[in-house]
Amino acid sequence: MGSVPATVGSGLSGASVGSALAGSSDAGRAAGTAPDYNYTDALKLAHWNWTTDKLHWYLSQPAKQANPGTRMKYSGLDDARQLDDLITYLGTLH
Ligand code: HEM
Repeated sequence: MGSVPATVGSGLSGASVGSALAGSSDAGRAAGTAPDYNYTDALKLAHWNWTTDKLHWYLSQPAKQANPGTRMKYSGLDDARQLDDLITYLGTLH
C-alpha cells in the first residue's frame, strides 16, 4: 500500500489534520471547518464531526463517500486492520 501522506492534501497542513482528528476519542471537530482552508462543497456541505467511526467510513473510500466534487483524490483503504492503524496514527497528530 502507499504510505500515509505527510499532509492531508495540497492545502491542509499536518496541524490541520491533527486538529481535524484531535482525539478520535474527544468530540472531533466538524468536517470541513479547519480555519483558512477553502474546502470544496463536498466538505462544506458535510454535516458530521470527525469520530473514529466517521473516519473509518470516510477513509475507506473518500471520493465516493463524501458529497460529490471533493478534491481529495485518494482511493482509500479497504483493509480493516490498516484503517485501524491509520486512524490510530492520526490520533497521535496534535
Ligand atoms: C491516508 C491518507 C489521507 C488521510 C488520512 C486524509 C484525511 C483527510 C480528512 C480527514 C479530510 C477532511 C478534513 C476536514 O474535514 O477538515 C481530508 C480532506 C482533504 N484531503 Fe485528504 N486524506 C488523505 C489522503 C489525501 C491525498 C492523497 C490527497 C491528495 C489528493 C488528499 C487531499 C485532500 C484534500 C484536497 C482535502 C479537502 C477536500 C475538499 O475540500 O473537497 N488527501 N483528508
